[in-house]
Amino acid sequence: MKIYVTRPIPEVGLELLRRSHPNFEMNTEDRMLTRAELLEKARGLDGLLSLLTDKIDGELMDVAGPQLKIVANHAVGFDNVDLAAATQRGVLITNTPGVLTDATADHTWALLFAVARRIPESEKFLRAGKFKGWGPLMFLGGDVTGRTLGIVGAGRIGHAVATKSRGFGMRVLYSDEVANAAIEQEVGAQKVSLEELLRQSDFVSVHVPLLPSTRHFINKDTLRQMKKTAYLINTSRGPVVDEAALAEALRNGVVAGAALDVFENEPAVHPELLKLDNVVLTPHTASATFDTRNKMATMAANNLIAGLAGQKPPNLVNSEVWGKHRK
Ligand code: GLV
Repeated sequence: MKIYVTRPIPEVGLELLRRSHPNFEMNTEDRMLTRAELLEKARGLDGLLSLLTDKIDGELMDVAGPQLKIVANHAVGFDNVDLAAATQRGVLITNTPGVLTDATADHTWALLFAVARRIPESEKFLRAGKFKGWGPLMFLGGDVTGRTLGIVGAGRIGHAVATKSRGFGMRVLYSDEVANAAIEQEVGAQKVSLEELLRQSDFVSVHVPLLPSTRHFINKDTLRQMKKTAYLINTSRGPVVDEAALAEALRNGVVAGAALDVFENEPAVHPELLKLDNVVLTPHTASATFDTRNKMATMAANNLIAGLAGQKPPNLVNSEVWGKHRK
């Protein structure tokens, strides 16, 4: 079996692979492979452990060859994978759902507080030696307790963000295609239209997957529907937000602030955002805790091992491939 891992993942995952497939190969440098390198490494593979930064498309699967059984993505999101191309070729695709829900929701809260209470901005000020004593007008920000939280997309992560608002006595609104009875019971969340959510929320937190229908979901028009005092938080996928429109809205006071963990053209960040103080930026680290990354690595390795052994991987995304005539 020929197996490749595109970048070092936590040791627990590698150890699982080592035990079942001692000869697997890996890019041992802690950096993204270029497209040319990835295609070169794909040649003749039976299984690939990929990251969300690796583009897994029909071209790559064809370069790999018809023996390619499985691509185990080390992420819950799989917009880097052309699912239709995989399904057409009978390639199993897996992800790592659930294990990163809390870490991602926790990071969403860290960002929410960071932007509302201007933590990076005031820390920078202090480190620059500008703190000359307490001031009644220094670094005033937005209140969190008792305010309205708007959850756009009430799936696993959106739900967890809502649950964690309990300590802050917030009113919770959510918008989604389907109702989430649990979130309504647990925090009294109310399902509203996106327009209503944008109009009423003090914090708008985005938790939708990246799909053609959600690309630039947050744009010039939707930003204008938000309160001038409101904050936008995005820990989902960058292209969900039109960054140029957001930068303009932040500069012109259309919204009070934003906090982003994901970017439209990752790893590039819109240069206008980098110039602004009312935006907090983290480098796609919402799931970056020791335990969570260990669990993701374990899950991705177990998916890969199961798929290669002809068993149904626990976190199969394109389940229609299973049971179909396989090559
Ligand atoms: C991170 O963004 C993930 O999808 O796991």
